[in-house]
Amino acid sequence: MQKDLLTIEELCENDLNEIISLASKMKLKRDEWKPRPLEGKSVGMIFSKSSTRTRVSFEVGIRELGGNSIFMDMSDLQLNRGETFADTARVLSRYLHAAVIRTSKHDYVVEFAKAANIPVINALTDSFHPCQILADLFTIYEYSERLDGVRLAYLGDCSNNIANSLILGAKLSGLKLTLSSPEEFSPDFNLIRNPDMGRGDIRWVKNPSEAVQGADYIYTDVWVSMGFEKETKRRIELLDGYRINRDIVNEASPGVKIMHCLPAHRGEEITDDVLDDSRRSIVLDQAENRLHVQKAVLSIMFGEVGEATKKNNKKKG
Ligand code: CP
Ligand code: NVA
Repeated sequence: MQKDLLTIEELCENDLNEIISLASKMKLKRDEWKPRPLEGKSVGMIFSKSSTRTRVSFEVGIRELGGNSIFMDMSDLQLNRGETFADTARVLSRYLHAAVIRTSKHDYVVEFAKAANIPVINALTDSFHPCQILADLFTIYEYSERLDGVRLAYLGDCSNNIANSLILGAKLSGLKLTLSSPEEFSPDFNLIRNPDMGRGDIRWVKNPSEAVQGADYIYTDVWVSMGFEKETKRRIELLDGYRINRDIVNEASPGVKIMHCLPAHRGEEITDDVLDDSRRSIVLDQAENRLHVQKAVLSIMFGEVGEATKKNNKKKG
């Protein structure tokens, strides 16, 4: 695994297998798990946007791995008064052993990571949310026992951080991804087409009914991401036909599962009955798996070698 996790592009297939296999063991044996790769280490959590799942799952996970987390609201740091991300990174690298950052522009995290000599994890930017998508891939793997060829339809804002990371996640894992939105919120076709970013069977269609045909999973996210509140009215008007409701669910595979990274805007991108359908909705598994996957990522970053790598090393002889 590379030093940082900023998108999903840094990961190879072996990294993904290792994360899934370690997360699965850590989940099964959460209470008995012994390794403490973060013993004596401090992880900084620098956030400029709200968070429930990411903040708490990272803080709990760091503690369970023996480390100490320090939460910093970005507005309290000198960053707020013009200190650069690079200078902040150079200084914090002298105190911390890793940094987890949630902010607006993706370039800020890139600037921080370039200047830092500690691992940096992107905890969401306007462009990417890799930790969420890793947890989602793990969740799909738990239900389908594979990723390659699994059909996922994503409806709604296809230009946001979740859609971008799903595209990269599909390229890495072989998920068959169909994105659906109006043209105004179409996906980043450069991400989809870039051959350097792996394989994948990814398409975009305007018609949400067409998108969900044969889908094993239907995924959505808020229509108004953090930082885009000024566009609320326009977004709700344009995305109105892309709501996940009972009718659209009935058009998919009979066993279709419903995914949402949460927080949900109930009644907007998803209806209550679909979100709360205990037979289909796996949103709480996704949320729980943030903890296990992030613990696996941190463990690998700090030297825990997983089964996938052991097997690979054996094969190499
Ligand atoms: N899904 C997710 O990242 O949730 P939070 O914004 O609550 O961290
Ligand atoms: N797209 C959403 C994801 C929240 C986890 C946002 O950026 O607000």
